[in-house]
Amino acid sequence: MSRYERSRNYALVLQNVTKYYKNFLAVNGLCLGVKPYECFGLLGMNGAGKTTTFKMMTGDEQISYGKVWVNGLDIKREQKKVQKLIGYCPQFDALLDDLTIRETLKIFALIRGVPYKECKSLGEHLAHEFDFFKHMDKKIKELSGGNKRKLSTAIALVGDPPIIYLDEPTTGMDPATKRFLWTALAKLRDSGKCIILTSHSMEECEALCTRLAIMVNGNFQCLGSTQRLKNKFATGYTLTIKVKKIADHVNVDQEIKAIDNFIQRKFPGAQLKEKYQELLSYQLTNNSIPWSKMFGILEKGKKNLNIEDYSIGQCSLEQVFLSFTKHQQ
Ligand SMILES: Nc1ncnc2c1ncn2[C@@H]1O[C@H](COP(=O)(O)OP(=O)(O)OP(=O)(O)O)[C@@H](O)[C@H]1O
Ligand SMILES: [Mg+2]
Repeated sequence: MSRYERSRNYALVLQNVTKYYKNFLAVNGLCLGVKPYECFGLLGMNGAGKTTTFKMMTGDEQISYGKVWVNGLDIKREQKKVQKLIGYCPQFDALLDDLTIRETLKIFALIRGVPYKECKSLGEHLAHEFDFFKHMDKKIKELSGGNKRKLSTAIALVGDPPIIYLDEPTTGMDPATKRFLWTALAKLRDSGKCIILTSHSMEECEALCTRLAIMVNGNFQCLGSTQRLKNKFATGYTLTIKVKKIADHVNVDQEIKAIDNFIQRKFPGAQLKEKYQELLSYQLTNNSIPWSKMFGILEKGKKNLNIEDYSIGQCSLEQVFLSFTKHQQ
């Protein structure tokens, strides 16, 4: 592939990227291409090699074997140029304790070449965007963990880099802030940035990532869109049934038993995963029953049994993740 080809199509290319820490193989032969307008998710258990991969993609760590190109530039040979193109939010906040947020943003803006008179407004814009404006004059050491993460993510965007690496940006954030950040990141993705993200939240990956890969022991186990991974690797469906609330004198357990018998008869191999008050959750292991037939069976059941409501869904990304990561050492 010529340099022109690489830069034309991909913002980031990894070719056989491998990392040894002494004799320990932390990352093993990763190959990947990510384009602008994409948010690529890197999933994996603790110690799978995600942060190590990021460090190689920034030039923090030496690459043992393989190559990385950013916008067509070889990271080993043109590291300075490459670093200008990258915004990086590391897993552990790299912030100076005694500076305020305002000062921190200003320093990073100046380092990234933002003209002095624009630094103030840029800092304030980011603070509004990531919802920490009211803490602007607090020192870093006075901030809560979640606010530090927000600041680190904001710093990754200073200077408007086309490629953004985010290593667990939302770890430690409350659900409301997390959603705020997702909206901001989705906007960035749709404006043409290339975002690489690691996360332990499947919900986050489903919300943001156009494609994702699951990493186990330094290897990619699978790569594709969420839907593709679910289609290919998830087995069966999940069925949730809500049992009708009935008058006290009727034995609820008997009703539940009748429903359970019905499900076992109609969907052989169904496993009751969870039973909580009036909710029953089943995993249906048979992939081959068409949706129409499943709905037909349950509609019939709804008429004869005490079923208030039900839903059938595809297995979650979490199940796909768990099926791969059980092999992590
Ligand atoms: N500087 C180092 N020297 C030796 N081994 C290291 C070093 N840094 C990381 N490792 C090892 O490399 C492996 C991958 O670590 P890495 O930090 O990349 O994992 P991770 O996928 O980011 O995990 P987490 O989800 O916990 O952040 C681990 O087994 C870790 O112990
Ligand atoms: Mg990590």
